[in-house]
Amino acid sequence: MRLVPYAEDHRDLTLALESDPRVMGHLGGVSTPEVAERVHRWRVEAPARGDLFVGVVPDGATAPVGLLGVWRSEIGDDTVYELGAMILPDFQAQGVASGAFYLLLPQVRAAGITRLDSFPGVDNVASNAILQRIGFVRVGERDLDYEGRSLRCAHWTRDV
Ligand SMILES: CC(C)(COP(=O)(O)OP(=O)(O)OC[C@H]1O[C@@H](n2cnc3c(N)ncnc32)[C@H](O)[C@@H]1OP(=O)(O)O)[C@@H](O)C(=O)NCCC(=O)NCCS
Repeated sequence: MRLVPYAEDHRDLTLALESDPRVMGHLGGVSTPEVAERVHRWRVEAPARGDLFVGVVPDGATAPVGLLGVWRSEIGDDTVYELGAMILPDFQAQGVASGAFYLLLPQVRAAGITRLDSFPGVDNVASNAILQRIGFVRVGERDLDYEGRSLRCAHWTRDV
């Protein structure tokens, strides 16, 4: 498995992920093409903000089948670095996201980030399970805004 920096030619990957109800079901629902384009631009411009977005290319594949992101955000009074992941349904539950997380850790540390936080919906079984699997600790719950909709989220955190 290898990671590649998220780039302009990953637009189709973002469009596929953002338009798939199986991927977006716990993330506020599918995005319109306009929103997906905005999300793509935000990912391409990640390095300029000090954020990290990478495509995940499994062994034997030539193109990414999903992505991981780490981005700075304001949650309440805290500034945190959020971790997120999206994997195309055909490639889920095969260790892709968890394997990619460990490959990403050196880049996270090199960026000077010392702690990661993640806020999956409380009903997002896969996401809550993987966070525990990769060493995050659940520290609480809070309501967060997902594209204008309030969602009850678990709060997970991990030192890096
Ligand atoms: C969450 C997501 C990124 C996980 O990616 P993945 O590549 O399928 O995860 P992995 O195969 O690496 O799974 C690692 C661990 O997570 C858990 N897990 C993953 N999918 C699961 C599921 N559907 N049900 C229960 N546990 C699950 C397992 O504990 C697994 O460990 P195991 O293989 O030892 O059993 C993927 O399901 C996804 O893209 N979901 C839609 C988008 C989303 O909700 N993203 C999270 C919010 S940012």
